[in-house]
Amino acid sequence: MTSMEELPLRPELRGRTPYGAPQLAVRHALNTNENPHPLPKSLLADLQVALAEAARGLNRYPDREATALRADLAGYLTRTSGEQVEPAQVWAANGSNEVLQQVLQAFGGAGRTALGFTPSYSMHPIITAATGAAWVDGHRRADFTIDVAAATAQVRQVRPDVVFVTSPNNPTGTAVELDTIAALYDALTYTDGAGVLVVDEAYTEFARKGTVSALSLLPGRPRLIVSRTMSKAFGMAGLRLGYLAADPAVVDALQLVRLPYHLSSLTQAAARAALAHTDELLATVDVVKAERDRIVDALPGMGLTSVPSDANFVLFGHLADSAAAWQALLDRGVLVRDVGLPGWLRVTAGTTEETDAFLTALGEIAPEHRGALER
Ligand SMILES: Cc1ncc(COP(=O)(O)O)c(C=O)c1O
Repeated sequence: MTSMEELPLRPELRGRTPYGAPQLAVRHALNTNENPHPLPKSLLADLQVALAEAARGLNRYPDREATALRADLAGYLTRTSGEQVEPAQVWAANGSNEVLQQVLQAFGGAGRTALGFTPSYSMHPIITAATGAAWVDGHRRADFTIDVAAATAQVRQVRPDVVFVTSPNNPTGTAVELDTIAALYDALTYTDGAGVLVVDEAYTEFARKGTVSALSLLPGRPRLIVSRTMSKAFGMAGLRLGYLAADPAVVDALQLVRLPYHLSSLTQAAARAALAHTDELLATVDVVKAERDRIVDALPGMGLTSVPSDANFVLFGHLADSAAAWQALLDRGVLVRDVGLPGWLRVTAGTTEETDAFLTALGEIAPEHRGALER
């Protein structure tokens, strides 16, 4: 048997490990920020019809441009954000991971640089490396907020080709102020030949009241890209449908790197069926937000704290030894995510029963595992 390291791998891939949250058989899997609510029966019925219809045409390649789906996605964005988003501004792919990969293929690549404010979504640096660009860690304050002056100075100095802002941020949970995003855009684009700013809004539907989407910044900002997904609020992680909104020229640029027929007819049909049930699907968002807030409210009583969350998860601490606390929760049937931040763990807000199980387990382990509250 040959080991991977004996293969003629690209040098920048050597020594790397594949991305992967543990997929363990456990009673309460609260580690991958999925929506635990089952799909409504009416959608399941419509999916059967839509998929059967699409199956009849499987001898043909799918619509390469995903025209109808992009129109539906533009309609959804326009309706929920109040911003007019045209189909020509929307692009879709197999999960927002693929959307981000296409962005990096078009605007990153060999000899170029991407910058993101860590800790953030761990796939940003991984996709950056896989597509051949260098990665630079952007700075955050100790409380995980972005210091606008320091961040814009760093962007001016590094002059990256791609900048990532995750809002709400994963794994910390907090949405980024629009002023911060606008300032980063200005810092990035103050010279000719500057890069693109990607705002990853995978969790935006869960944001607290008053949070405004970066879609509102699109007019007049041709290098701004807002990426979204149906994996979280829509509860369709298994569908693999991500999308973005940007200037139509960005969408044109992505055509240069996308594989032909990348989005199967079945995926397009299923996504359109789901979008026709948007209101029912998004009804679970308020339920999940209530569970998130219940987790946040329960923590101080256990001598623990959290980072303000606009997402369907909570980063909680401060733990003396997060790896030990992770194991202690797992021993009680609750799988959370160790995101590699000393003193912190991330839990997905799920159903009421899941929150109950998590809070009970955490209550049991907190006396032994909590650390000092100061950071
Ligand atoms: C911030 C962020 N962006 C993007 C994704 C990728 O989502 P998907 O590829 O399922 O659309 C995730 C998934 O966890 C995420 O946390």
